[in-house]
Amino acid sequence: MKKLRVGVIGCGSIAQHRHLPEYKLNQKVELTAVCDIHEDRVNEIAEKYGVAAFTSFKALLSSGMVDAVSVCTSNDLHAPVSIAALEAGIHVLCEKPMATSKQEAEAMIAAAEKSGKKLMIAHNQRFVPSHQKARQLLQSGEIGKIYSFRTTFGHGGPENWSVEGKDGWFFQKEKAFVGAMGDLGVHKADLLRFLLDEDVVEVGSFVETSAKDFANVDDNAVCILKTESGIIGTLAASWAYVSREDNSTIIYGEKAILRLEDDPLHSLVVQYVNGEVVKYELGRIQSNEAGGQNTSQVVEKFVDSILLDQVPPVPGEEGMKSLAVILAALESNQTKQIVRVDNQISRIGD
Ligand SMILES: NC(=O)c1ccc[n+]([C@@H]2O[C@H](COP(=O)([O-])OP(=O)(O)OC[C@H]3O[C@@H](n4cnc5c(N)ncnc54)[C@H](O)[C@@H]3O)[C@@H](O)[C@H]2O)c1
Repeated sequence: MKKLRVGVIGCGSIAQHRHLPEYKLNQKVELTAVCDIHEDRVNEIAEKYGVAAFTSFKALLSSGMVDAVSVCTSNDLHAPVSIAALEAGIHVLCEKPMATSKQEAEAMIAAAEKSGKKLMIAHNQRFVPSHQKARQLLQSGEIGKIYSFRTTFGHGGPENWSVEGKDGWFFQKEKAFVGAMGDLGVHKADLLRFLLDEDVVEVGSFVETSAKDFANVDDNAVCILKTESGIIGTLAASWAYVSREDNSTIIYGEKAILRLEDDPLHSLVVQYVNGEVVKYELGRIQSNEAGGQNTSQVVEKFVDSILLDQVPPVPGEEGMKSLAVILAALESNQTKQIVRVDNQISRIGD
C-alpha cells in the first residue's frame, strides 16, 4: 500500500509530544517534512526523524513532498496555514482552537469543501476512554434525562510547556487571540457538545486575567452554558490552578451522576440513584503534566479518514461550533449580557 506522505508545520511542544511521534508510529504514514521558523529547532527535529526541513510553510506546501499536514503553530496562523494547504490540495489536521474568529473558521471550512480535502480539528478529548464510555452511557438512556453539568480544565499555565516559555505567543493577544479560554476552555466546550450531543445556545461568563500579570490574555474564566434542550451547567478554564491540574467533568442525570477524570484511580465513576456505585478503570487521560494515554488517537483517526475517504471524526464544522462557545463567552464578559451562540455556518453566496 502506498503510504500517506505527511508534514508537520510548527515544531513546538504539541508537535514534539504528539503529532511527530504518532505519525512515526503509524504504519500507513511516511513522515517526509517538517517546518518551523526557528532554523535550529527545525533542523534538530528533521535530523531526529530523518525528514526534510523547511523554514517557510509555503515552501513545504509547494514542495510536492506531502499529501497531508498537521498545523501546530500559534493560533493566529491556524487559518492562513490551513487554507494555503487546502488550496494546494493537501489534507489538514489543525490544532485547537481552530481559528481566531468565526470568519476564519468559515473560510477554512469553505477551502476544505472547495478542494475536496479533509479538514480535522485536533479535539483529542473526544477520544479519551472515559469520555467515550460516558457518551455511550448517555446515548443508551442509562443515565436518563440530563439536568446539569460541571466541567473544568485548569493547570498552572503553559509557560513550562511551550517551547517559547513565558515570553512566548501563548501570552500575547496578537498571536494567541485568547488565553486559557481558547487553550483549555475550548477543549471542554467541545467535550460537552460531544457528550451531550447538543449544541450550546447561550453563554454568560466572567473572563479575567488573575494570575499572569505579564500576559495580555485571560487566564481564569467561569461560564454558565445552556444547551439546545435546556441543560444548564458551568465551564471553567484556568491557568491559575497552581499546584495540580483539574481536567474533570461531572454530568448530573435523572438516574445517575457521572464523574469523569475526577477520581485519581477511576477515570469514570457512575453514582446511581439507588446507591450503587460503578467505578471504571479505563486508563488515564493524556495530560501535558503526566503523559497518560499512549496516543491521543487524533493522528490515527485523521489518517484513516483520508485513506478510507470518510468524514473525519472532528470536521471543521464541529471545531467551529466549539470555537463559537468561546467567542460567545468573550462577548458576554465584555457586554455583561447573556450571549446567544452563533452556531450557523455562513457559506459563500448565503
Ligand atoms: N490538543 C492539545 O491538547 C494541545 C495541547 C497543547 C497545544 N495545543 C495547540 O497546538 C498549537 C501549538 O502549541 P504548542 O504548545 O506546540 O506551542 P509551542 O510554543 O511549543 O510551539 C509553537 C511552534 O510554532 C512555531 N511557529 C511559529 N510561527 C511559525 C510559522 N510561521 N511557520 C512554522 N512554524 C511556526 C514556533 O517557532 C514554535 O516552534 C497551539 O494552537 C495550541 O493551542 C494543543
